[in-house]
Amino acid sequence: MSELPVDPAVREGRIPGRTSEEIPELHEVDCPEELRERIVALMGRYPDRRSASIPALWAVQERYGWCTPEGIRQAAAVMRVTPAYLESVASFYDLLHTSAVGTHRIEVCTNISCWMRGADRLLDAFKQAVGEDEANFYVTGFECLGACDIAPMASIDQRYYGPLEAAEAGVAIEQLLAGAEVLPEKALAKRGLAGDS
Ligand code: FES
Repeated sequence: MSELPVDPAVREGRIPGRTSEEIPELHEVDCPEELRERIVALMGRYPDRRSASIPALWAVQERYGWCTPEGIRQAAAVMRVTPAYLESVASFYDLLHTSAVGTHRIEVCTNISCWMRGADRLLDAFKQAVGEDEANFYVTGFECLGACDIAPMASIDQRYYGPLEAAEAGVAIEQLLAGAEVLPEKALAKRGLAGDS
C-alpha cells in the first residue's frame, strides 16, 4: 500500500525551516516584555501552565491582531510548550485566528433564536455594508453567543448588541470607521440589570 503524502507543516511547523515540535528558547523569539509578563501572570493562575494556553493565545492575538506564527512561538517559549501544541489549540477555537483578519470583528449569531428573528438578513446586511474592506472588517456567522434574549444579535469587537435590525448594520459599520460609539441604544453593556428600577 502506498503511503499517503504528509503535509510538511506537520513535521516542520508553519514557518519553513523551523520545527514546531521543539520548545523555542526565549532568546530566540524576541518576545515583547509586556506580552511575556502577561503570559507569566496568566500561567500563575493555574496549577498546570498549559491551562493558560487559551488566554495566552488571546494575549498574542490582542498584540498582533491574530495568532501569528511568530507570536505563537513567543508564547510557546514563555510557556515552555511547543509551538505545535499552541497551534493545535489556536486552530480549534473559532475566536482565535490563525490567519490575518480585519481589525474590527463582527460575529453575527445565526443560531435558532436569532435565525428565527432575521439573523440571515442581518448577516447579509453586515457583509454588504463591509463590502471588500477585509483590512478593516471580519464578518462571520456564529453559533449561539448566549444572548438569545436580545435576538437577533451580534458581537462587535467583543461587545454584544441587539436586538438588531438589518438596517443598523450599515450604521454600525460607519460608526466603527468614524471611531464613534457603536449603536449605544443597542449595547448590552448599557442595559439595566434585572431588578433595576
Ligand atoms: S441563538 Fe443567538 S444568541 Fe443564542
